[in-house]
Amino acid sequence: MTALRTHYCGDLRKEHVGQEVTIAGWVNRRRDHGGLIFIDLRDREGIVQAVFNPETSAANHSIANELRNEYVVQVRGRVSLRPQGTDNRNLSTGDVELVAEGVEILNRAKTPPFYINEEIEIEEPLRLKYRYLDLRRERMQRNIILRHRVVKFIRDFLDARGFIEIETPVLIKSTPEGARDYLVPSRIHAGKFYALPQSPQQLKQLLMVAGYDRYFQIARCFRDEDPRADRQPEFTQLDLEMSFVDEDDVLNLTEELFTSLVETIMPQMRVTKPFPRLSYAEVMERYGNDKPDLRFGLELADLSDIFASTEFSVFRSVIGEGGKVKGFAAPDCANYSRSQLAELTEFVRSHGAKGLLTMALEGEPGGALTDLTPDNVRSVVAKFLTAGQIVEITKRLGAKMGDLLLIVADKPKIVDVVLSSLRSEIAQRLGLIDPNLLAFAFVQDYPLFELNDAGQWEPMHHPFTAPRSEDMALLDTDPGKVGARHYDFVCNGSEISSGSIRIHDREVQEKVFQILGYSREETQERFGHLLEALEYGAPPHGGIAPGIDRFVMILAGEENIREVIAFPKTQSAMDLMLNSPSPVSLEQLRELHLKLSED
Ligand code: AMO
Ligand code: AMP
Repeated sequence: MTALRTHYCGDLRKEHVGQEVTIAGWVNRRRDHGGLIFIDLRDREGIVQAVFNPETSAANHSIANELRNEYVVQVRGRVSLRPQGTDNRNLSTGDVELVAEGVEILNRAKTPPFYINEEIEIEEPLRLKYRYLDLRRERMQRNIILRHRVVKFIRDFLDARGFIEIETPVLIKSTPEGARDYLVPSRIHAGKFYALPQSPQQLKQLLMVAGYDRYFQIARCFRDEDPRADRQPEFTQLDLEMSFVDEDDVLNLTEELFTSLVETIMPQMRVTKPFPRLSYAEVMERYGNDKPDLRFGLELADLSDIFASTEFSVFRSVIGEGGKVKGFAAPDCANYSRSQLAELTEFVRSHGAKGLLTMALEGEPGGALTDLTPDNVRSVVAKFLTAGQIVEITKRLGAKMGDLLLIVADKPKIVDVVLSSLRSEIAQRLGLIDPNLLAFAFVQDYPLFELNDAGQWEPMHHPFTAPRSEDMALLDTDPGKVGARHYDFVCNGSEISSGSIRIHDREVQEKVFQILGYSREETQERFGHLLEALEYGAPPHGGIAPGIDRFVMILAGEENIREVIAFPKTQSAMDLMLNSPSPVSLEQLRELHLKLSED
């Protein structure tokens, strides 16, 4: 296999019994049974037990006696069946052991700062400082190898469908993808900067103009934004682009890719097929969120019209001020205690709501909703509602007797944010989430623009997204009403990609820049290359860019993106192993024509 070994430790099985083999790896554990010494030797494929008998070789036995955890060792010996009753079901090699006939210490190891051979909580800064030790742990090896398999599958799948992998540069010019750029000062051109790509967006469009038709890249992207559980300053996308396509072509390909990927790599996971294609308006209405978690129901409904005609003044005034009232039914929770209700109220407050209105439907379980009266509804609002209004509310929320209705009134944005978080919280509490389900969906029919707080139009996605052809005239008259040919791809409550059909006409692209408030000069300076390219026979084209880290995180069942990245940055964008960012010498700064400000 290699000069120093014939087999991986983790590969030895019954069929090797009787063979003379050499393995090499790290000492996972040493056990001294007063006479026999057992060494568990570990490599990336697993662990196997080697046995040292003082009567076979006193010299080998005494070396074995010296071994400590994480020493690097080579062992030669004969594979044997373990004596009856000593096989180990927890090890894939557990039927056999290696009877040692030779041993050599290839390297010694200091006592590691944390246990590598046990799955225990370790504080993250320590893990990141010694990432090379952390990566030795089984869980990390599993994640990193899973990531490799995902990327390999993607490459093979796309290659088989005629996609060409093309690398694009990392030193480019600022591309607007909504985040801050990382800048790289130029030594040769004083006072000028490269930017690291937030994505290869413009380059992949230019590759379509160049006739490459179906492109992909496992592309590194850089965004100077604050890291979060599902965000890193540098991350990886499967970036892809196709020519002569419409939305269905891109979405069908994406659906086929992700379905076959999961079926091949994670056959124990279920995928919801076909992937639902929902409109933005619909998901906002039903889930309060454009990346809905579809693994469970708990759908929201709007109750504003009902509450507008009640005597409940708190809600009427919210509605009067342009707010709305929405809620959902938590199944079989009518018996929640005061303290449980207080907890939920605290939860919504911490997410920005003023309060939580609860209505416990305390009638006979299985009883008809029409039996509901203000008397069998436990709620502060009961006395303000007629029996008819109560029935109307419960029907709207699809509730049944025994349910607890959870209702929030506020500004529309707050209502949606709060209720979508509460939906997830309740689903977790009630165990409604199937850990083996991947609920994929596409979200479409977004508006092209949204107004920012300063009252300026901003792209919902990025400025290269095509408007719907039937809305072209609205670009001049009512930009807010223009629909976009944009789609998002979501899974289990996470946005894993965005994409769109792009603008391939110079005039339309210029108009969009103009609506976004760029002057002619600015447009020319920043996007002149793209506008010009659109004049040399740009084909209709579109694409998508799934985030690899986020998707692997979901597949691996991890809560944090750092668990599937070999060398990630911390929450404050530090690399604790390399201790970066770090100061540089004055000489380096001078070469780059830079001076640090004093303050
Ligand atoms: P977008 O900006 O939506 O689209 O990014 C696409 C996907 O990339 C992942 N992603 C991230 N993952 C980890 N850390 C981050 N900081 C981060 N930011 C984004 C997400 C996201 O859905 N050029 C367009 C795509 C296109 O139009 O083809 C783009 O980059 O999973
Ligand atoms: P109050 O009259 O302010 O005590 O409110 C009566 C009930 O309505 C209390 O249970 C509050 O928690 C709830 N409540 C008040 N404001 C809101 C709101 N904006 N959304 C949901 N419930 C609210």
